Parts: sequence; C-alpha cells; structure tokens
Amino acid sequence: MTAQHICMLDELPNNGSKSLELNGEACFAVRQGQAVYLYRNVCPHLGLPLDLMPDQFLDYDKRYIQCTSHGALFKINTGLCIAGPCQGKSLQPLACEIVDGAVLLSESSLKPQANILDQTPKT
Ligand code: FES
Repeated sequence: MTAQHICMLDELPNNGSKSLELNGEACFAVRQGQAVYLYRNVCPHLGLPLDLMPDQFLDYDKRYIQCTSHGALFKINTGLCIAGPCQGKSLQPLACEIVDGAVLLSESSLKPQANILDQTPKT
C-alpha cells in the first residue's frame, strides 16, 4: 500500500479549511502555511459533521476548528477540544505528508478504523 494523493497544497486556502472525501469518508483539511492538518468530519460530541457551510471549519479568528452545531473549539494542530460540550475529547486525525507540493494521505491512515468515534487521547 502506498500513500494516496489528496490534492495539491496550492489547492488548499492558506489559513483556511476545505472539505474532502477520502475513500468514501467525509474529512477536512486545515492549512497553515506549509503545514496541513487532516481530520475526519465527525464531531466527538454527537458524531455530527462540524460544518454547516461547506469548507467552513474555523472560528472567526481562524485560531481554532469550530463545530457549528454546538460551538466546540478544537486546536488546529492536535484536534483536542479545548472548549464546548466535548472538552477533552479529540477529532479523529489522519496522517498526511507533503511531497513535491502534493498532499498525500499517509499509508498508516489508509487502514480501516475499528471505532472511529473512540479517539479520546490516552493518558
Ligand atoms: S455536535 Fe459538535 S459540538 Fe455538538
């Protein structure tokens, strides 16, 4: 199994977010400069999609990922919820890498998830 092409880095708005469908799953990417963070589009609160408006996953200041259903805020770089009804839980990350300007889904993220809602950080 090899890494899967997602898109070109330039196709993602800098300091913005974009909906993606990867292998039939709703996901989204957040780009900050040369860094891309990829998550499944599933809120750990009620399992709903985070965006009510397509491609709108960030709060007004673009500092956090925000679930539009009940306002949970998540750190962009880790997916950890820092405020809202699911505080302490996390979004489900997918590993990606950037190679020659292309964003690739890492091989480790191509494996099926046993339970995609159970992504609570282990302590
Ligand atoms: S479904 Fe996301 S905060 Fe409630």
